[in-house]
Parts: sequence; C-alpha cells; structure tokens
Amino acid sequence: MGPLGARAAGSGGAGRGPLALTSRSAAATTRLGIRLGRLLRPGDLVALVGDLGAGKTQLTRGACEGAGVAAGAVSSPTFAIVQTYPGRLPVHHADLYRLGDLDELHATGFMDLLGGDGALLVEWADRIAGWLPPEHLILRLSEVAGHPSWRRVELLPAGARHQALARALTRPVPRSGPAAEAKAPPRARPRAGAGRRPPR
Ligand SMILES: Nc1ncnc2c1ncn2[C@@H]1O[C@H](COP(=O)(O)OP(=O)(O)OP(=O)(O)O)[C@@H](O)[C@H]1O
Ligand SMILES: [Mg+2]
Repeated sequence: MGPLGARAAGSGGAGRGPLALTSRSAAATTRLGIRLGRLLRPGDLVALVGDLGAGKTQLTRGACEGAGVAAGAVSSPTFAIVQTYPGRLPVHHADLYRLGDLDELHATGFMDLLGGDGALLVEWADRIAGWLPPEHLILRLSEVAGHPSWRRVELLPAGARHQALARALTRPVPRSGPAAEAKAPPRARPRAGAGRRPPR
C-alpha cells in the first residue's frame, strides 16, 4: 500500500480538490481542535500526521476540550501508547511515535478501539498506514516557510462520514463581535401608530 496521505487523497477529495486551511497560531490550532471535538461521533477516526512539533498534540488537546474532556487531562501518552479520556463520548488518544512493531500495537488493545463507542485520535498514524480502516480523516500538519507559528492543515477524508466531518471543519466560522452585530438584521419595526403622541 502507498503512503497514507496519497491513498486518502485519492479516495476522499470528492472531486473538489484538497481541503486545507492555515492555522496562524497555537491558539488557532486549539480552536480548530475544539471544533473537531464538538463534531466527533463514536467510531470516528482522526489520523494526525506531521513532523515533531507540528501541532498534533495541540490539536488533540483542543479536540478533547471540544468533546467535553476535563481540562488538563490530556498529556502525550509517552509510556502508554493509548489513553482514554471520558467526555461527551470516550476520546481515545494514541501516539504511535514509539511504536515498536504491530505486535505491540495489538497488545495495547488499539485495534479493539476501532469503530467502537468512542472517537479515536491517532498521532503518527502514518506508522500504521496499511492498517487503518478504510474510513478515516487524515489531518496532515506542516510548517509554513517564513512563518514559525503558522501551520498548514490538510484534510484528507475517506468515506462519507469523514468527508462530512472534513467539510464541517473547513466551513467558515461565522464572525462574532461588534462587526457581526453591526450586520445583524434590523429589529422589528414598531407597529403603525406606536410611539405617536396621543391625540389631544
Ligand atoms: N499554529 C500552530 N499550531 C500548533 N502548534 C503551534 C503553532 N504555532 C506554534 N506552535 C507550537 O508548536 C508546538 C507543537 O507541539 P505539539 O506537541 O502539539 O507537536 P506534535 O505534533 O504533537 O509533536 P510530537 O510529534 O513531538 O508529538 C507547541 O509548542 C506549540 O505551542
Ligand atoms: Mg504529540
């Protein structure tokens, strides 16, 4: 099987070209994660791909927050390959950076989590490219030359559910604040006659 991204790009683009966005700060990546976490459903599989320091854990922390996981619960699972956090739904967080071999992966119970009652977020998912189920959403994070705090986030969905998830994530966020308030529809006009001086 080919590289993870190439496989998904062929199967998930739905003919509209790649979905991608740019995060301009760590906080923006957290916000993207929060949006993801709010959208997550049981059985979702989000494969996080990118170099060391790309922002995979940053995005995962946001996703956990959006899924209702208690603040501060998420760490990088350094010793355990998989950790589960209770939230609106169970969020399983795997980090395969130190994965020795596939036997080790089976021993962690990782395979039993696929398609289960929780959502699964997998850092370094490219380590098991050939073992991912056909339905998944790859988020590939990469640095942007000349902008140390920017990250390009490519979304490579495979399967209808994960395509919908990717589209929801790339939909523009409605603006809030004074500018949006200024554009708010006018209040209902007063009834005819209302506010007029009473006849003498
Ligand atoms: N736009 C951005 N998005 C995400 N992280 C950013 C951004 N700009 C700067 N950063 C910083 O980059 C670092 C990302 O670290 P993080 O642990 O999330 O990376 P990672 O991809 O999980 O790396 P690893 O493979 O080592 O687990 C953080 O220190 C974060 O503050
Ligand atoms: Mg990490």
